[in-house]
Amino acid sequence: MVPQSLYLSLLVLFLAAHGSHAQKQQQEDPCQTKSRVVGDIEYCDRYWECVNGRPELFDCPNGLVFAGKHRGVTEGCDYPWRANYCDGKRQANPPIPAEHCDWLYGIFGHETSCTRYWTCWNGTATEQLCIGGLLYNERARSCDWPENVEGCQKHPLCNDDANGNVPLGKSCNRYWQCQGGYPRLQRCPAMLVFDRRSLRCVVPPTEDCDVPTTPPSLEGDLPEGRNEQEPEEENLPPGVPPLPAGALPIPLRARPRN
Ligand SMILES: *[C@@H]1O[C@H](CO)[C@@H](O)[C@H](O)[C@H]1NC(C)=O
Repeated sequence: MVPQSLYLSLLVLFLAAHGSHAQKQQQEDPCQTKSRVVGDIEYCDRYWECVNGRPELFDCPNGLVFAGKHRGVTEGCDYPWRANYCDGKRQANPPIPAEHCDWLYGIFGHETSCTRYWTCWNGTATEQLCIGGLLYNERARSCDWPENVEGCQKHPLCNDDANGNVPLGKSCNRYWQCQGGYPRLQRCPAMLVFDRRSLRCVVPPTEDCDVPTTPPSLEGDLPEGRNEQEPEEENLPPGVPPLPAGALPIPLRARPRN
């Protein structure tokens, strides 16, 4: 027979393990805090705010989780992957999908392209492009070097010839050089132009390119010349995340000075 005291201890242990969360850890009262806002202790996508002297429970916008007052991307809420907001907590709300969006708010991969992705804001998707030979990295939620992007190792630019040259829009002196499926932006040597037919730098004129009227500048002057951009790479939309640190995607060779 189990002694009564042991039975009671077991019961207490059971209650401690399975009792309501309030017993384990107290929900902080937002009205007792300076910020008047505190995260819910059980759900990372909920928070309490002191409204008219009383705590009220709120949900973060769908897809976001509580980060703290004046933090995150909107209403004190942030993308869940930006920090360990949800460690030891659950999300109360299921995803509300919208076109191209798994949740109303978030950053999501493109259905058919490795160089594009979607940013979703309240269910409205905006297509974003990765420029300069970068690909969208699902894990980092940003553009990244192809070698870091699982499943999209080879850039679509280089599909036809993993080691060939590809014209860059209408550019007469810049082109993509594919190296094992990875594109690198290159520039023809001074006084030569890129020939779209032979896919090589040749002495002008060609069908599309006259003799350059202005000598190319010494710097890797990439952003100039809108109409030279390949359509896929032009018009960097607002809100595109910055390139990865140090990942200037354009290893332009310094031209030899004579
Ligand atoms: C989000 O969209 C819904 C309907 O499309 C709209 O009613 C609501 O006001 C929007 N919310 C915000 C914060 O923009």
